[in-house]
Amino acid sequence: MTMWAAGRRPRRRALGAAALLVAGVVVPAGAAASEPASRTAGGGTARNVILLIGDGMGDSEITLARNYTVGAGGRLHMDRLPMTGAYTTYAVDGRGRPDYVTDSAASATGWATGHKTVNRRLSKTWDTDRPLPTILELAQRNGLATGSVTTAELTDATPAAIAAHVTDRSCQGPADMKRCPGDTRGRGGPGSVAEQSVAHRVDVLLGGGKRVFDQTITEGPDKGRTVTQQARRLGYQVVTDAAGLRAARPGTPVLGLFAPDAQPSEWTGKPATTGGTAPQRCVTSNPERPAGSPSLEAQTRKALELLDGTRGNGRDRTGKGFFLQVEGASIDKEDHEANPCGQIGETAAFDRAVRVARAYAAAHPDTLVVTTADHGHSSQIVPVDSRPAGKSATLVTDEGGRMKVSYGTNAGGGGQEHTGVQVRIAAQGPQAHRVLGVTDQTGLFTTLRTALALR
Ligand code: CO
Ligand code: CO
Repeated sequence: MTMWAAGRRPRRRALGAAALLVAGVVVPAGAAASEPASRTAGGGTARNVILLIGDGMGDSEITLARNYTVGAGGRLHMDRLPMTGAYTTYAVDGRGRPDYVTDSAASATGWATGHKTVNRRLSKTWDTDRPLPTILELAQRNGLATGSVTTAELTDATPAAIAAHVTDRSCQGPADMKRCPGDTRGRGGPGSVAEQSVAHRVDVLLGGGKRVFDQTITEGPDKGRTVTQQARRLGYQVVTDAAGLRAARPGTPVLGLFAPDAQPSEWTGKPATTGGTAPQRCVTSNPERPAGSPSLEAQTRKALELLDGTRGNGRDRTGKGFFLQVEGASIDKEDHEANPCGQIGETAAFDRAVRVARAYAAAHPDTLVVTTADHGHSSQIVPVDSRPAGKSATLVTDEGGRMKVSYGTNAGGGGQEHTGVQVRIAAQGPQAHRVLGVTDQTGLFTTLRTALALR
């Protein structure tokens, strides 16, 4: 049974999981009105999992986006998931002691494998540097279809952690292997993140990072080909814009590369400055975004369409469901730049992907939906008349309020930093109750594995 049900309320145990959860959990009013808790919070087994990760999306980042877009009294789509808890995100150092502030690589390793590792490492052990099985690999082994969607490079930390194992997160393409000597094809290793992701035959890979996949492989059986050519050889449909994505069909895997690097953010505005900005409205567009660039929402919708129509990618014809990871990556990147408008636009874009996931789950109730973050970040909502020591910006929200945002994790010109705070995890569907209370992010691996009954 769950940690939550064990012990603390022994008299209620006999009532069974559904009654216990209904009795003990504060369900948001919106969710309670539309969805019986017995269905959204149940035990049992999921056919599908949709895991949505907001990179750097701590409580401050969520609250900023809520205040700006739907108002302080409004609710985002991610706020409507009925089961909400918090989880801890620390990494470990080279001696196995807590490293209180994680990076995205160690964090993703935590939820993807159930094991903590050192910062910069991807799905390998902290001490012996050995590969750890990931939730995506287990899903594939059990005949499920798999997908990964991100606004960052597909070789960036979060998508990389589920489909690759490298000593250092910088080893994204065949030309980037300096920090991963033991992982190279020449030494008998599996190669870069891009090569491994394609070799895994993940059914749907959508994101940025075309520049990395266009690097030429210099060792091993694919020597002389680019990673994109390796993908085509393995049967991938390769698409590079919204029109190509629309035309993609289930049956063979899809590799979508929609930007040379990370996909440009949706919104723009004046970054925070020392002493603060004048009150500003965010610009809800970005001239750097190419016209044919699909949003995270569009990518998520297409990924679900493809995975729903995929029968285990030829491994299994029975159609056992799928595991899909969706990352809103640039909440973190804009936070690092102390750019509140960029950050809010990316959180809002992520929230629209959550809406798509919840619409799918409404039609397919045997779907576990989880939204969470990989770590906290630097933005803070402070009083409008405060004078923060670091950088700050004042925004005029959609409901007409003034909101001051402070970034104070780095002095001078340095970029802002992650924080070591616990972050929200919320869920609906089979095994959703496992996110309740305070857990550690390594427990998310067990939640996903249990929900999908993976062996
Ligand atoms: Co991160
Ligand atoms: Co970051």
